[in-house]
Amino acid sequence: MDRYAVFGNPIAHSKSPVIHARFAEQTGQALRYEARLAPLGGFAEAVAAFRAEGGRGANVTVPFKLDAFALADRRSARAEAAGAANTLLFDERGILADNTDGVGLVRDLAQLGCVLDGARVLLLGAGGAARGALLPLLAEAPSSLTIANRTPEKALALAQQFQPEGRACALAGCGFDGLAGGTFDVVINATSSSLSDDVPPLPQGIYAPGALAYDMMYGRDETSFIAAARALGAARVSDGLGMLVEQAAESFFLWRGVRPDTLPVRAALREAIA
Ligand code: ATR
Repeated sequence: MDRYAVFGNPIAHSKSPVIHARFAEQTGQALRYEARLAPLGGFAEAVAAFRAEGGRGANVTVPFKLDAFALADRRSARAEAAGAANTLLFDERGILADNTDGVGLVRDLAQLGCVLDGARVLLLGAGGAARGALLPLLAEAPSSLTIANRTPEKALALAQQFQPEGRACALAGCGFDGLAGGTFDVVINATSSSLSDDVPPLPQGIYAPGALAYDMMYGRDETSFIAAARALGAARVSDGLGMLVEQAAESFFLWRGVRPDTLPVRAALREAIA
């Protein structure tokens, strides 16, 4: 049976094995998918051992996405843009690195009925998660994309780097205080602030009527970002659980050439964490 794994540290609470088991069952694909703890500093060895055991591909999570990118022999354009990989494919030509996080986000936004074409989008954060989202977001042709970060220089650098991809989109970077007076249709939190129950300081009026506040984080309880977004008047809110399922589906498609139906898996996962 073809074997796949997710590597991370920690990894015990990963939902990927459950998601991929459901995808496999649903599509009739014979595969086994497991969670593997890789030691810090030992990612390459852990992947080599899995390949030697017959592994066909892997997902990669914190803190190994940069290692996965560095390890690869070939990289997809979206992995290159992100500078990080969450998906590896092993074949006779070596290791292919891909990044399905950004596409996962865009598909989740579509599932939520959020139209990015022509929208004013605000992306909070300038780390790996934000970088991974940029190319797929720009491909949806928003009218503007503003990157805001605690350290403004990082947001400015990202905006500059992705300028050629932006074309018709007004792409800009700033610090949080540069957002005063701005109004957005979609606000995406790609900072890790929710992990420490913190929130990026956003000004009043940031949410346009009908706007969506989206947190890439998720959990049983509402994240601090979503609670703050409600208080600032966001009409719609969502956490990142759907993104998790959608990025997994894109990895599954890369490995197996079959696209699973994400809807029942999204629903089951939502019920499981409730
Ligand atoms: P990830 O891979 O999750 O993006 P990262 O690359 O370490 O992780 O980036 C973390 C992001 O969250 C950064 O944009 C960081 O801002 P800085 O560049 O200024 O460090 C942002 N971040 C982390 N904690 C934050 C907080 N409490 N408030 C606002 N932004 C925060």
